Amino acid sequence: MPTPVEASSVQVNLGERSYEIRIVSGALSELPTLLPNWLDRSVYRAGNSRTAHIVTDRNVRSHANIVREGLCATGWTCGITELEPGEKTKSVANLSALWDDLIAMKADRRTVVIAVGGGVMGDLAGFAAASFVRGLPFVQVPTTLLADVDSSVGGKTGINHPAAKNMLGAFHQPIGVLIDTSVLDTLPAREFSAGMAEVVKYGVILDADFFTFLEQRADAINQRDAGIMRQIIARSCRLKADVVEKDEYERTGLRAVLNYGHTFAHAFEALAGYGELLHGEAVSIGMIYASRLAERMNLIEAEVTRRQDDLLRAFKLPTRLPDGWAHSDDAILDRMKLDKKTVGGKLRFVLPKRLGHVEVVSDVPEATVREVFDDLRK
Ligand code: NAD
Ligand code: GLY
Repeated sequence: MPTPVEASSVQVNLGERSYEIRIVSGALSELPTLLPNWLDRSVYRAGNSRTAHIVTDRNVRSHANIVREGLCATGWTCGITELEPGEKTKSVANLSALWDDLIAMKADRRTVVIAVGGGVMGDLAGFAAASFVRGLPFVQVPTTLLADVDSSVGGKTGINHPAAKNMLGAFHQPIGVLIDTSVLDTLPAREFSAGMAEVVKYGVILDADFFTFLEQRADAINQRDAGIMRQIIARSCRLKADVVEKDEYERTGLRAVLNYGHTFAHAFEALAGYGELLHGEAVSIGMIYASRLAERMNLIEAEVTRRQDDLLRAFKLPTRLPDGWAHSDDAILDRMKLDKKTVGGKLRFVLPKRLGHVEVVSDVPEATVREVFDDLRK
């Protein structure tokens, strides 16, 4: 685990699209101080319109109000759109409503769109920012742990098509990300655990020392200790930024390592019905399935799976499908074949070769996947 000083700021280096991830505790009102610098260092630096529009959901409105009051007090004109919480909000109808709000406030090319919320707000507001007049400056103020460590970093924005999740979108990097660990105080326990699944994922795919650190500090993490949270969020953001810097547009295949556990997880989520299993819960179960598959393919020892299982359970995450799971192995396999990594109907998985290192493995025999289903059935 690297030194804790990294906790305050992580730089994402993408040439003219570079930005800072600022990690604080109890300092949401810092945004008006940060924003002029972020704009100056961005491609939007010409002029200074001091107009912003916040996109938030009902559950985090109080956090959004702090951001808005800080901006208004420092001379910004700041509109706000409050939306319904939940995955269904990532729709064409809400995207269109945001465009309407931006038109109504006479937004121009320098109006800053600010998402205050979880991944749903970030993805939707980010896509509105990407598409309005072909690109407005965009700031993320994530309020879930999942958004802190994953969705606010890397520039993927978008909405769902009724037939497929995240099917419509754009790459649009933010000009800055402000993460305040104190907003996690209001985050429900289940959502907190779901975010921890992605944190554990970074340890498995990229950083064995970080994985060990999580094992050693699980109690303090579960208590949401501010210092530890800043540390693990900073490390997770750094690890994700390293991947994004090398494969921003997911062209070389490197960015696919971030999808460890996700081939199984997306199938579990879709079959359970979105919202029944949270994404992070499905990823937790999916990582155990992927790890067991790696064992079956003689890539790792059983110990690697056992350590993941123990750590995920320490964060109160499920590692097996829920009681009463009624979907057949065929149904899961059919869903997995819809995965974006599938090529010509052949299953491909991100699999560990040891803790801290994964590879994309092609041509995994379907029979081996079926053995894994049998192994992990209750
Ligand atoms: P979410 O945005 O739906 O938030 C989860 C719930 O927690 C919501 O009800 C929300 O209102 C509530 N909430 C958020 N912050 C809170 C707080 N501080 N206190 C109290 N309640 C709070 O879900 P999420 O897990 O943050 O994000 C999931 C979304 O992110 C999915 O749509 C997924 O596709 C997307 N995603 C995107 C990327 C990316 O790279 N763009 C990566 C991963 C996930
Ligand atoms: N969450 C996967 C990615 O950003 O690529």
